Order: sequence, then structure tokens, then C-alpha cells
Amino acid sequence: MDNNQEYFMSYEDLEIHRLMLEDTSRTEMYRKVINDNRKYFNNKVIMDVGCGTGILSLFCAQVGAKKVYAVEASNIANIAKEIVKENNFVDIIEVIHSKVEDVVLPNNEKVDAIISEWMGFYLLHEGMLDSVLAARDKFLKKDGEMFPESAAIYVAPLFHPYTKSGIILMEHPCLHLLST
Ligand SMILES: C[S@@+](CC[C@H](N)C(=O)[O-])C[C@H]1O[C@@H](n2cnc3c(N)ncnc32)[C@H](O)[C@@H]1O
Repeated sequence: MDNNQEYFMSYEDLEIHRLMLEDTSRTEMYRKVINDNRKYFNNKVIMDVGCGTGILSLFCAQVGAKKVYAVEASNIANIAKEIVKENNFVDIIEVIHSKVEDVVLPNNEKVDAIISEWMGFYLLHEGMLDSVLAARDKFLKKDGEMFPESAAIYVAPLFHPYTKSGIILMEHPCLHLLST
């Protein structure tokens, strides 16, 4: 089994998704940004890279997205399909069970915005950013929007009594940048 397979198998576990959904500062910030920036979602074509349970796609559909391509490589995609059905958004949200790198949209369609929750420990640990950037280069319209559009890592030196050294890393996705 290669690292990719192991990585995507870890996301089959519902417990991981429960923890993410219960991380209210995370989930509610996405909901707030989408609600505060309706004009970027209403009547627009959106791609949700790594949709997991489909939570961000649902938020987009709730503010009137015309179409949401919800792309997910792990088997949680099957649960996302059920959740979309339960929420009566099958006409809007299309769950695509695939790595985003392998997706081909009908007629090479481009999207108005890409949304994704790709941040890992100390921001980059998860290694998902490359996939989001590949999606941007392949699917985003020239004047399209990225949510989040930038992120910062803050680093502070510290003295640790045991290791006699150390640094603190803090991550901060600039999701609020377009927030009103
Ligand atoms: C941090 S989780 C976020 C899940 C969901 N968007 C949420 O906010 O609850 C990232 C998800 O992206 C998926 N993922 C990572 N890389 C991917 C790729 N290259 N193509 C498709 N899905 C990917 C993972 O399987 C995982 O479900």
C-alpha cells in the first residue's frame, strides 16, 4: 500500500470527520465566510476540493450556488452522496469520487470559485496544498476566487527546559480576507 492509499484510507474513518465537524471555530468560520460573501457563491459554479462529508458544499448550496462539484478521493465520498441526498441538493451538488488531479469536468468547464479545507498541523503538514493548487490551475476561471486565498505561518523562538531550544509555529488561514 503506498502513502497515498494510506492517507485516503485514514479519511474513510467517520470519527475523523466527526472531530472536524465538531471543531466549531473551523466549521463555523467557513459557514460565516460563505454567508458573508454570498455574491461569490450565489448562482456560481463551485468546486469543493476534498469535500469529506460534503459540509462545505452544503453551505455553498444553501446560499444559492448553481452547481457544486464536490470532489473526494476517499470512500467517505459514498457517505457524502447520502448526505447530499438527505439534504435535497442532488440537483446542485455532484459528488465526484476521485482524486482531484484525475477529474475531468464536462466540456472542460471552469469554475467560479474553489473552496477547500486543506490545512494540516502547522498548516502544511497534510501536504494537500499541492492538490488544491493543481485544481486552481486546471479548473478555476481567470477571475475566479479561492477560499481561503492565502495563509500565514507565524514562528516564535522559545526556550524549552528539556530540549534547551524550540520554536512555536502557529497557522492562520486568511479565510476572513473576503469577510465583510
Ligand atoms: C481536512 S479534510 C476536509 C473535509 C471537509 N472538506 C470538511 O471541511 O469537513 C480533507 C479531505 O480532502 C480529501 N482529499 C485530500 N487530497 C485530495 C485529493 N487530491 N483529491 C480529492 N480529495 C482529497 C481527504 O480525503 C479529506 O476527506
